[in-house]
Amino acid sequence: MEARVAVAAGDGIGVEVMPEALRVLAEIQRRCGHTFTYEETLVGGCAIDAHGVALPDEALALFDDVGVLLFGACGGPQWDNVPAAERPERALATIRKEFDLFVNLRPVRARKSLAPVLPVKERIVGEGLDFVVVRELAGGIYYGEPHGIEEGPDGRRGYNTMTYTEAEIERVLRAAYELARGRRNHVTSVDKANMIEVSRVWREVAVRVAEEYPDVETNHLLIDACALEVVLRPSQFDVLVTGNLFGDILTDEAGALAGSLGMLPSASYGDGRHALYEPIHGTAPDIAGHGLANPLGMILTAAMMLRHSFELTEEAQAIDDAVDKALEDGFRTGDIRQDGLDVVGTHEMTDAVIARLDV
Ligand code: IPM
Ligand code: MN
Repeated sequence: MEARVAVAAGDGIGVEVMPEALRVLAEIQRRCGHTFTYEETLVGGCAIDAHGVALPDEALALFDDVGVLLFGACGGPQWDNVPAAERPERALATIRKEFDLFVNLRPVRARKSLAPVLPVKERIVGEGLDFVVVRELAGGIYYGEPHGIEEGPDGRRGYNTMTYTEAEIERVLRAAYELARGRRNHVTSVDKANMIEVSRVWREVAVRVAEEYPDVETNHLLIDACALEVVLRPSQFDVLVTGNLFGDILTDEAGALAGSLGMLPSASYGDGRHALYEPIHGTAPDIAGHGLANPLGMILTAAMMLRHSFELTEEAQAIDDAVDKALEDGFRTGDIRQDGLDVVGTHEMTDAVIARLDV
């Protein structure tokens, strides 16, 4: 097939892991006869440095035109002092909002070979761990009005608004239920309904939508209890659905279950043709520039793109399997280091994956 892909590596380790994912895709292209055309653009701190804004118009226009954006990571200490509205991270938030990418799929898997590096290993790997967090991505406290920082008699006051309409809640819940139907038919809806109004509405909508999916089992958890369950009994989960901020926090926590945040991919979409693919890790300024970053989250993100935007299921599966094999064969970056195994760099890990592609 032929396809265009907009590419924004961004900042920090984004710049290091993106070329590795593209190397894996190049091998898939070569073997399977696909032609992907990549169109690169600057988003994030790199765009601030080059153009004075984190999200230049041409980046937005490119994504609008191409419809598929493969993204690395953005942000870093260099841009910590820019005003909130101009920060590199805001660029990403604006892309998500602008194209109404309200569904963010964050699959969490504990791969058997990583059992020795997991913090809660026997229990979770023994039972097999494989769940998906559906994070609402185009609403909630990231975007609610009013927000700001104001001077007051007691010093400055910062404030944000967490808001969800029934319609916003309903559409992301439906996405979660549809996903669950293709999996193990279980949805956990996560809120803070015992304390905040926005979650009261969330809970009421969730109870109502659940009735329309009698074939899917539903339970409701409060976010604090859920955060505990994620480390105590994660194998109970199939599809978790929650708001933007809660989903952000839960998926970093879930990074521990996968061995490292560096292992986790994500895909975001809405009702239209636009889709954004980004690993859930950040720019890792502490290791950026040294070729040490784990490329697997980015590589698995590219696989999600093949699966969701291009329906290249076999190719996506081949990447996933190659990642498994590389891990089984003992390849480890620093974030998943294991006693007795050498630590490899970003490039070497990718080589190991490419060498194990079987498609
Ligand atoms: C994520 C990140 C982003 C978020 C940042 C970089 C804006 O943490 O994708 O999880 O908070 O959504
Ligand atoms: Mn996050």
